Amino acid sequence: MRTETDRAAAAVESLETLTVGVVGARGYVGVELLEIICSHPLLRLEYAVSRAADGDPIADHAKASAGGLKFEALSDDEIADRAVDVVVLALPDGAAKPYVEKLESAPKPPRLIVDVSADHRFDDSWVYGLAEHNRHAIAGAPRISNPGCYATAAQLAVRPILDMLADTPHCFGVSGYSGAGKKRSSRNDHKALANGVLPYKLVNHTHEREITRHLGTPVRFSPHVAPFFRGITLTVQARAKSATSVEAIAERLENAYRDCPLIMLSGADTPRVQDVVSKDGAVVGGIAVNPDRPDEIALVCALDNLRKGAASQAVQNINLAFGLTELTGLPDAISMAEATP
Ligand SMILES: NC(=O)c1ccc[n+]([C@@H]2O[C@H](COP(=O)([O-])OP(=O)(O)OC[C@H]3O[C@@H](n4cnc5c(N)ncnc54)[C@H](OP(=O)(O)O)[C@@H]3O)[C@@H](O)[C@H]2O)c1
Repeated sequence: MRTETDRAAAAVESLETLTVGVVGARGYVGVELLEIICSHPLLRLEYAVSRAADGDPIADHAKASAGGLKFEALSDDEIADRAVDVVVLALPDGAAKPYVEKLESAPKPPRLIVDVSADHRFDDSWVYGLAEHNRHAIAGAPRISNPGCYATAAQLAVRPILDMLADTPHCFGVSGYSGAGKKRSSRNDHKALANGVLPYKLVNHTHEREITRHLGTPVRFSPHVAPFFRGITLTVQARAKSATSVEAIAERLENAYRDCPLIMLSGADTPRVQDVVSKDGAVVGGIAVNPDRPDEIALVCALDNLRKGAASQAVQNINLAFGLTELTGLPDAISMAEATP
């Protein structure tokens, strides 16, 4: 059987190379981006912006040779002067705006800007880049807002069963501490987190608002951070309008993700964070229905916050925006299509 990966390899021939700049390139997401972009057959890294790592070879921070390229501390004006096809902004929330303004008024604006922060996830003039549910809008899009990591996991689990639900679903998420970025805080101090789990922002979390906005219905969300480095497990608990079954929910997921090469389904088996670390895709499963109250349901999504929750999703979006095969440059997909003989 010809796999999605084979198709991606075949599609690479005779296609143009796209030049890419990454801003915020020394952060946790930025480094993942550099590694994926530098091994992508059709993307060529032109610059990687970091103030703290200015002058350092990229290879000192990322598993990527990048042809000897070094980090540069470029200002927003200097970035606007460096014409590239794609700019990926991997900046902290609230920092993207001046870069977008300068890029949009540049002599040669990029054909695509991808913002991995939350800054444009509530802005209708940007396309929300959750390909599994918004694929048609991503093709040809000039501005893509990459979904949040927890928000990706929650929507992958909830959207296929949304119309079955009687009331507000609850999402309980646990993330590795890389989810809080490199800037020191109580949420990424792994010594302080050791042997514990830290609940935080239990009401009105940005991702709660993001999930609610993009699902079009309220959700509750309880984020937690744990002392492992990367990965997210997110459990959805909900009440269905009528009695249901594991099989009925599994069928919903299969129908939703049949043509989604980055999503693997595990039925009633619970997806594990350990199995998704450094993988480009997500696993949805752990489906459970209370035998005594068959309207009480639960399911789980696991993904790597730095990959499908951020960098792989950004590259998936670049691929789709430029009409490339979705898995181009994403060799570490967990693919239902490939897992199924
Ligand atoms: N971590 C995750 O799991 C995850 C998942 C999905 C989305 N995101 C989002 O992705 C973005 C980056 O996250 P991260 O975890 O990679 O953060 P990070 O590790 O803190 O890295 C942020 C990067 O941006 C640079 N930077 C910080 N403030 C800046 C400013 N005002 N102007 C220019 N550069 C600035 C940093 O410093 P230097 O310039 O010194 O290098 C660094 O390179 C955030 O918006 C986050 O919400 C993160």
